[in-house]
Amino acid sequence: MYCDLDIQLPSNFENDFSYAITEHARSGYNHLEINEDKEKYQIITQKLICHIYKANLKVKLYDAVDNTLINEDELGFHWEESYEYGGNIVKMSKTSHDGESYYGLGDKPVHLNLKGKRFENWVTDSYAYGKSTDPIYKTIPFFTGLHHGKSYGIFFDNTFRSFFDFAQERKKVTSFWAQGGEMNYYFIYGPKMSDVVANYTDLTGKPHQLPPLWALGYHQCKWSYYPESKVKEVTAKFRELKIPCDAIYLDIDYMDGFRCFTWNKEYFPDPKKMVKELSDDGFKTVVIIDPGIKIDMDYAVFKEGLENDYFCKRADGPHMKGKVWPGECYFPDFTKPKVREWWSGLFKELIEEIGVKGVWNDMNEPAVMEVPNKTFPNDVRHDYDNNPCSHRKAHNIYGMQMARATYQGLKKFAYPKRPFVITRAAYSGTQRYTSSWTGDNVASWEHLWIANVQAQRMAMSGFSFVGSDIGGFAEQPEGELFARWIQLGVFHPFCRVHSSGDHGEQEPWTFGDEITDIVRKFIELRYQLLPYLYTSFWHYLNDGTPMLKSLVLYDQEDIQTHYRTDEFVFGDKILVCPIIEANAKGRRMYIPKGTWYNYWNDKIFKGGKEIWVDADIDSLPIFVKEGSILPKYPVQQYVGEKKIDEIVLETYYKLGNEVSTLYDDAHDGYDYTKGRYSLRTFKLVGKKDELIIQQHKSGKFITEYKTFKLKLHGLPFKVSKIQIDNEEILFEKVKVNGDNTLIIDKDFTELHIIGD
Ligand code: GLC
Repeated sequence: MYCDLDIQLPSNFENDFSYAITEHARSGYNHLEINEDKEKYQIITQKLICHIYKANLKVKLYDAVDNTLINEDELGFHWEESYEYGGNIVKMSKTSHDGESYYGLGDKPVHLNLKGKRFENWVTDSYAYGKSTDPIYKTIPFFTGLHHGKSYGIFFDNTFRSFFDFAQERKKVTSFWAQGGEMNYYFIYGPKMSDVVANYTDLTGKPHQLPPLWALGYHQCKWSYYPESKVKEVTAKFRELKIPCDAIYLDIDYMDGFRCFTWNKEYFPDPKKMVKELSDDGFKTVVIIDPGIKIDMDYAVFKEGLENDYFCKRADGPHMKGKVWPGECYFPDFTKPKVREWWSGLFKELIEEIGVKGVWNDMNEPAVMEVPNKTFPNDVRHDYDNNPCSHRKAHNIYGMQMARATYQGLKKFAYPKRPFVITRAAYSGTQRYTSSWTGDNVASWEHLWIANVQAQRMAMSGFSFVGSDIGGFAEQPEGELFARWIQLGVFHPFCRVHSSGDHGEQEPWTFGDEITDIVRKFIELRYQLLPYLYTSFWHYLNDGTPMLKSLVLYDQEDIQTHYRTDEFVFGDKILVCPIIEANAKGRRMYIPKGTWYNYWNDKIFKGGKEIWVDADIDSLPIFVKEGSILPKYPVQQYVGEKKIDEIVLETYYKLGNEVSTLYDDAHDGYDYTKGRYSLRTFKLVGKKDELIIQQHKSGKFITEYKTFKLKLHGLPFKVSKIQIDNEEILFEKVKVNGDNTLIIDKDFTELHIIGD
């Protein structure tokens, strides 16, 4: 339940317009009761009771079930003079409770728990940022607070430069403010943090469609692969070494003088042919497109933009001119619907004609070179969907609107296939259109830690489809660091190796055979887990469930989790903890409550404590929650390489119940939105001498696979009998006591494995 506290008074309020809030969440509400007494107004929802005091507009929020105080204003809503820029800031201050922790805020490269820290939100090109760099590429002004076992969220939907102080300046106060705009914030109550995140994601929007399955494969990138022969050499090597890979990227050098929507014909004489040949070999081509349009009267895109008045202008009239890769550029005003429409149309040739499958939007903060503030001056004007304003207000959403326009182009021209877009800059809600990466990181162990934190933090900020430049963008990793980074990266929803290339190579085979074998092993694991990953994307898309769960999100009641950063749950069943130090043979890690199987050897652990886990360079601490049924594919070199007639179900015995799901569809296209999907729910019931699995099926899609191969883990009894849908079957047929596997028809309803 969320409640918009944008208090309306009959004065000069702005038009209530937001780029963040998704269409369906703009209207309607659940149960709402409003009462009034002398002192206050009282608003009652299903989950919350909200008191607004008449004398000072201060707000107190209580849990409607047990009346506990969840959140209260300190000074509350007020204006304050800004010492830095003059003028007034719009500010909110809240009481920080004893033991309160704070999480969220997008891509901040710091400890997951934000308590005691202050942050700024201003989308910034941040080459080689570090742990203390703030702000960086994204602005996601949403956080969750957690105290006394209960969690709530606040989304401050204000696009001006904003700040959050989590009990840093004053121990008992948490505040947030912005250099303009209104105190327009949403209060979202859990009490479960996972519900808070899901509700925020619902409010700002889930991805508009599933990604094509290939987009969840492994991606290879570099600045830059050229000419064509180099691209082919790299892709051929993947196939030769049998390292799975689905996407190959072309960075800025594929263009003619860095002019977007052109090709350097010397390096790429026949792009259509090359893209087709790559595609025949299973590679999807993704190309970069930046916002800066080179000032050049012989360049059609520039001319068109100029003639139609599509470029941003300064307050006093001239165009906004700035230097980026092509030299002096003008920049489309993506906040104008007509401009977005034009921009989306520019993708026709790339996508429809040439066959490019994905577009990578970069430098869309917008980044400007050789100026101290790295971006537009504040006076630049924007349309803001017919709410004209200066760059102070539009800056944080500029990149989002560019990615949106790009997405619209891909959606149109890739049809009936699904679009794939990746962006660097983002504001809340950008997850509706695109995936993202964490920008120009560095090949260092510290950055491996940062990548882990950022991916988790983005997931708890509504944006799951994220990954880092695996191996580091700037500088070159040692083989060991590269291997450890791959081991983490294959558990991020977006999985791409990228590097600046000026410090040497960064392909999986660069670091010698031992590392190549480790890298292959983990990329293969990702490809095996694709059905699990796809299912977790489907949960994200349907329910707003984050695809990565930090331990606090997984189990907020266990206070041990409140300050953990390294361990996370991938999907909802697999616990992962990266190795983030050199020369490690393993590490200490916290196992959350419950019982877990070591993925590599099936050893069983009771959680709720820290343990040492062995993980030499070719391994990584991975645990599976007891009772889980994990679906697995055979290894493929790319999505769709093999016809998959059988899915392996890794089945982990538990004394008790557990539910697992398996989602499938055509892996591309939109048929799934018309009911042509297959959703299977497996209910596992483990007893002392029996294991029962019930399957519930829905959806009209006929899956390619026909059978399941169950692999049983941790069965505490010797099997004497097997019944499928009430019929006993012979076990010679199912080999259950041989290698503990059992092959059954995919449409079974109830399976009983009975012990002596
Ligand atoms: C920026 C991007 C990087 C890209 C480079 C050249 O630094 O963040 O990923 O490779 O520009 O386009």
